Amino acid sequence: MPELMEAVSAYAVRILDGLDDRPAARVPVRPEPAPLPGAGIGLERAMEVFATRWEPGFAAGPGPRYLGFVTGGATPAALAGDWLTGTLDQNPTSGLDSLAPDLERETVTWLRDLFGLPREHEGVFVSGATMSNLAGLAIAREWLGEVRGVSVAEEGTAALGPVTVLSGSPHSSVAKALSVLGLGRSAIRRVGVLPGREAVDVDLLARELERLDRLGGAPAIVVANAGTVNTVDFDDLRAIAALRERHPFWLHVDAAFGAFAALSAGHAHLVAGLGEADSVCVDLHKWLNVPYDSAVQFTRRRNLQVRVFRNAAAYLTPLGEDPDFVHLTPENSRRLRALPAWFTLAAYGREGHAEIVRRDIDLAAGLGERIAAMPAYRLLAPVRLNVVCFTLASTPDRIDEVADAVTGSGEAFLTTTVHDGVPALRAAFSNWRTTEADVDRVAKILAEAAPRP
Ligand SMILES: Cc1ncc(COP(=O)(O)O)c(C=O)c1O
Repeated sequence: MPELMEAVSAYAVRILDGLDDRPAARVPVRPEPAPLPGAGIGLERAMEVFATRWEPGFAAGPGPRYLGFVTGGATPAALAGDWLTGTLDQNPTSGLDSLAPDLERETVTWLRDLFGLPREHEGVFVSGATMSNLAGLAIAREWLGEVRGVSVAEEGTAALGPVTVLSGSPHSSVAKALSVLGLGRSAIRRVGVLPGREAVDVDLLARELERLDRLGGAPAIVVANAGTVNTVDFDDLRAIAALRERHPFWLHVDAAFGAFAALSAGHAHLVAGLGEADSVCVDLHKWLNVPYDSAVQFTRRRNLQVRVFRNAAAYLTPLGEDPDFVHLTPENSRRLRALPAWFTLAAYGREGHAEIVRRDIDLAAGLGERIAAMPAYRLLAPVRLNVVCFTLASTPDRIDEVADAVTGSGEAFLTTTVHDGVPALRAAFSNWRTTEADVDRVAKILAEAAPRP
């Protein structure tokens, strides 16, 4: 075992050492199918087969110029924590046998402090922002039931009647969550945004809430957005929360990566009021730079969370004062996702992570300036935080050619989108490894990739 593990560790270190030279992304070419081995080939040989058949086709996802989606890398401490997660293989679902759930509790408390949330917010680890949105909206659904005098957890969504979810620029995962929760994608009512922005127009939101009041007073769910995926725009969370004085509603904030603005003194105002939300979604495999999959879900209504996710069985722990995680998340058994986050927070602290965030913000601003100065391109929005959203100045419909050329070069990976009807590219900075030299390389490949008229 020790020799085998050393061989695996040496192989992993070779991969990490080569990250900078590995093409940022690959155009996938599937290998020939292989049958299930009858007699196994052993770990050493399996590693060799993986290294030739699969690994060369893997992207440099944790590398410095993978700027697609919103993709973090993995800090050395987070990676170490991830290795130890598999090694220790704890199931933090119950506290019957191990301290593992307490480590998760400590990590959640650290994260709550990192994002400046008040003590009333309690959190759990889930697999990603989609699951965090889903869990938050499940608690919101239970709150709607409470207000209407039914328990959705017991009676089902049919007992609830129609539900309205108001939001300016919701992430697609909100629609997916509503589909899973039986509320339906069509529950979303898009509220108008501010001119030229993705942030909700709070006056229009207030008008929608008044309209719902007039229609019979059934409270709604409001999904506020703290960091939209295209242009990283922020709803005015304080102003939205203040509307609850006139109209009751559940305020869920999708702060998947925007919550990290709290770590930069110049940007913290963007998330002012986050703590006033009833539920908050924050992804960790994005800007905390822990490996997939990891996110946290906060709520100030743990009693409703328990009603939704309670998993009563004689062989499990009872609910009690401080319920085990088996009663708090969609899963029962689950990996100790908190450990990589605990390691990176312990190793680098608030200041280390703030430094990563500030550096990425500066790098995004730098690339934004470079792109704005290139006649071939134009920015589609100011660079507010860590994403540059841009297109071709005269032929936006040819932006896919740029994306293909960039991917084909192996130099960088950027993902396409459509912003306000315009085909565009996004470069998202959330990796601790990215430096100014990488921005130079990205700017150079973009200059070369612009199609000739
Ligand atoms: C604002 C926002 N919400 C939710 C998600 C979904 O995250 P995940 O893929 O981790 O489920 C994303 C992903 O980019 C996001 O940017």
